[in-house]
Amino acid sequence: MAFPEQLRRWQRELRAQFPLIVANPEVAYLDSAATAQKPQAVLDAVLSYLTTGNANAARGTYPWANRTTARIEQARDRLRRFLDDPLPHGSGVHFVGGTSDGLRAVARDWLAPQLRDGDEIIVPFADHAANAEPWLEAAELLRRQGARIRVTPMPYDEAHDYDVERLAALVSNRTRFIAATHVHHVYGNDMNVHRLRAAAGPEIPICLDAAQGVGHLPLSTAELDVDFVVFSGHKAMALPGIGAVWARNTRGPAYEPAGWSGSPNTTGIISLAAALDWLDAAGLGRIAHWTTALGARLTDGLRTMPSYEVLGCRQSLAAGSAVQQRQGIVAFRHHAIGSHDLGFILASEGILVRADGHCQGDEGEKTASVRVSLHVYNTPEEVDRLLEVLTGLDRSW
Ligand SMILES: Cc1ncc(COP(=O)(O)O)c(C=O)c1O
Repeated sequence: MAFPEQLRRWQRELRAQFPLIVANPEVAYLDSAATAQKPQAVLDAVLSYLTTGNANAARGTYPWANRTTARIEQARDRLRRFLDDPLPHGSGVHFVGGTSDGLRAVARDWLAPQLRDGDEIIVPFADHAANAEPWLEAAELLRRQGARIRVTPMPYDEAHDYDVERLAALVSNRTRFIAATHVHHVYGNDMNVHRLRAAAGPEIPICLDAAQGVGHLPLSTAELDVDFVVFSGHKAMALPGIGAVWARNTRGPAYEPAGWSGSPNTTGIISLAAALDWLDAAGLGRIAHWTTALGARLTDGLRTMPSYEVLGCRQSLAAGSAVQQRQGIVAFRHHAIGSHDLGFILASEGILVRADGHCQGDEGEKTASVRVSLHVYNTPEEVDRLLEVLTGLDRSW
């Protein structure tokens, strides 16, 4: 796919805003699905807050504290706008530690209290383990209280997409909940979750793990009828230790975290609001276009090398694929070099990737792979550099 000069100029201007990237031109950071780098605007927002009005929120009688409280409310509204929230007065935004923490909070505080003996929940066991374990824990909690909850695996097709026809056939009047993922963290494919509502029917709540979607492509809760969107700030260019649960609050009781929540992560929340500002200004549509094009450049290159197997949907390898769009995440294996070794070889060349099992659930890949995950600061030259090293290894084995 071509990278027209206008697009390249746009990307150069954005890349220049990432101090860690700019300071390390010899490094190709290709591990953004693990955590994203931070633009200067996010760092500035945090430093400015800490040096001009740091205080605890919701507890003060003085301006710094009141301003902090107001900024947290503004951050909630910011996230609602970011997610194109159609019901901003009824929805809930709850700040959590990250996706794992948020999904667990929904399972424990919202789902478990509603479950009754004989109910069923549908769980995507080939997605990230963070989107399986909390639901299993909720079922186990009920089991200890004497109620049996059926945990049904989400059906997939051979392209690793959700099989919505089989899902529709599975759903019964005892199905209480469906967990799903926006973008798969190993295969990179958009899971086409817009098809889930038709398969689930109008009543069943759907919870979306958007850890690999937020910050990478537009996500409109006005268009996508899901009940929860949960994500990690650190993967969306904010600081680590912050994330959010957005709750539509129209199916079942309004979501409220149980128990005493303590002091909020003020710098995390401020960093998240700044990151959402930055991402919206950069343009998520363009970011998605850029990372998808980089991913296609990589898969095109890998396809010419017999030593490598790319994981995931074959048909989505082409950027123009109507089947599933691969979002800037490409996982692959070398037929003779172990993935961990390949990770170390690449690191020795300054190419930073992830090489392991990627915390995939039980129905996922059984052996490790190398995962390259791209963001807007990455360039076609970095992908070519990676391909050059991989080509050398292709020939030598
Ligand atoms: C799809 C998906 N869900 C959940 C998580 C867990 O995110 P965190 O470790 O920020 O809680 C990840 C992290 O890689 C992920 O990719």
